[in-house]
Amino acid sequence: MSTSVTQSDSRPTTPLPLLVLGRGTELHTERGVECPGELPAPSDPGLVERARAAKAALGDQVFVLGHHYQRDEVIEFADVTGDSFKLAKDAAARPQAPYIVFCGVHFMAESADILTGDSQTVILPDLAAGCSMADMAAIRQVEECWDDLVEAGVADLTVPVTYMNSSAAIKAFTGRHGGTICTSSNAKTALTWALEQKGPGGKVLFLPDQHLGRNTFVRDLGGSLDGCVVFDPHKPMGGLTRRQLQDATMILWRGHCSVHGRFSLAALEQARREIPDVRVIVHPECQYEVVEAADEVGSTEKIIQTIAAAPDGTKWVVGTELNLVRRLGTLFPRQQISFLEKNVCYCSTMNRIDLPHLVWTLESLVAGRVVNAITVDDEVARYARVALDQMLSLPGETSKD
Ligand code: 13P
Ligand code: SF4
Repeated sequence: MSTSVTQSDSRPTTPLPLLVLGRGTELHTERGVECPGELPAPSDPGLVERARAAKAALGDQVFVLGHHYQRDEVIEFADVTGDSFKLAKDAAARPQAPYIVFCGVHFMAESADILTGDSQTVILPDLAAGCSMADMAAIRQVEECWDDLVEAGVADLTVPVTYMNSSAAIKAFTGRHGGTICTSSNAKTALTWALEQKGPGGKVLFLPDQHLGRNTFVRDLGGSLDGCVVFDPHKPMGGLTRRQLQDATMILWRGHCSVHGRFSLAALEQARREIPDVRVIVHPECQYEVVEAADEVGSTEKIIQTIAAAPDGTKWVVGTELNLVRRLGTLFPRQQISFLEKNVCYCSTMNRIDLPHLVWTLESLVAGRVVNAITVDDEVARYARVALDQMLSLPGETSKD
């Protein structure tokens, strides 16, 4: 994809390189910037019509999933919307659809590929739609962490619990070591299950979101903050002593969400001062002190359900991604809905999926071209599926519409 500057006179246009350092110099940030074929211009007034026409032409051939953090312009074309848990289950709900367009982020599309049939192709409209939290744990670091646990003599007592927001390779690690995947809507059940697996003295290695792990252990299971240690993958032995690893019940990976990590206790207290009788609802990826001070905590689906069930006139301050908070304001105009942090913006990677990428994806399929297919290596998929199936078999796990 190249960009050019159009000038008013007849001089030749000057190409503007998208990769200013040159191609191939920063492979991680370059992921996904190439878009084979013509990406429609965002200013094209016919985009909505083009998306409608392409989706209609594909009919049952395509199944579009949309996470709650997607833009409204994308959500409009989703056949199903949901939180990570619901979308993981729904991905397999249309076995007859050969194409699943996943409007979300990379780890969600990988999980969908693992959970769907061999004849189905999962597509992520923009390959640069990653997740900064998932990127905070690389499989090599996790393997080294496990070696440290072996060295400290605690690996035999430890069960990995891995948040959905992680690479397929780390999910496979979890499957190989007898652990489970969890999402924000079933973390309590997953953690309870994991802590029972090894009997007294059992531990959990919680990857990669330290906040979800701590919040669930302390708030939902009544564990103590002293029972948690944070393993820093950039330090020898995680920056911990053997004794600390032996004494801990929860070994929390040092990862966090760059969006939810910014909601602060100060902003929450200010909201309480300024809005009488306000109810505060936040996502469990927020810091412990924020979650502690909130009235309600839950996954994106639970946030929607809780606000939907509240009486007219309820005042809410919501601590989660801004696309969803804005949509809540539109969906529930009889309630007063505010955003918790004035400086926090959207999840930049979720926002990568926009109408031009969706139109390009759908029109490519109409033309018989599959773009941006997400394919997980067979061996990785086999063990990741063990961990995902373990999650899906946990008792009472539902995520309702
Ligand atoms: P949910 O599972 O609650 O939708 O959360 C996914 C996520 O990425 C939150 O940042
Ligand atoms: Fe990842 Fe945070 Fe974005 Fe969720 S909101 S996809 S955890 S960066």
